[in-house]
Amino acid sequence: MSLIFRRILFVFLLGLTATLVNGVARAQSAAMPSPHRTIRLTSQKITLPFGDKVFAGDGKIVKVTNQHCLLCHSRGMIDTQPPLTLDTWKKEVDKMRTAYGCPLRADQTAEIADFIAHAASAPAPNGN
Ligand code: HEC
Repeated sequence: MSLIFRRILFVFLLGLTATLVNGVARAQSAAMPSPHRTIRLTSQKITLPFGDKVFAGDGKIVKVTNQHCLLCHSRGMIDTQPPLTLDTWKKEVDKMRTAYGCPLRADQTAEIADFIAHAASAPAPNGN
């Protein structure tokens, strides 16, 4: 093989190697996101549903329940429970008192639980 041909072959192979290395590097950088990627945050306006359902009626227990059980969340929180037994509703009302701070007296638990056990599945007067 002549010297000139070997030189040409050497330069050709060098160029080919450089092209391959460059191609692999580009493929890798495309696959991996740059650590300095910019994330643009924009303000969003979200309208959440408003729950204003109350328990219907004028009785004292209705008033106490509306005043105490709709303080922190809507009636929907109560209505969307699966059918619960009276005993489970008593535990639920006690949980609201003891764990979350619902300002009811312990002796009001049974009466409220009994009312809710019957009222939870009844339609609300304003229909929402
Ligand atoms: C001091 C605030 C507060 C009051 C008052 C309150 N709750 Fe709750 N209630 C909560 C919180 C907090 C949760 C949990 C919400 C969540 O997990 O997203 C909750 C959840 C619930 C749930 C869903 C099941 C569960 O255990 O998480 C029901 C049913 C419920 N409350 C019923 C009642 C009833 C009935 C009353 C009235 C006796 C009442 N709540 C009063 C704060 C309150």
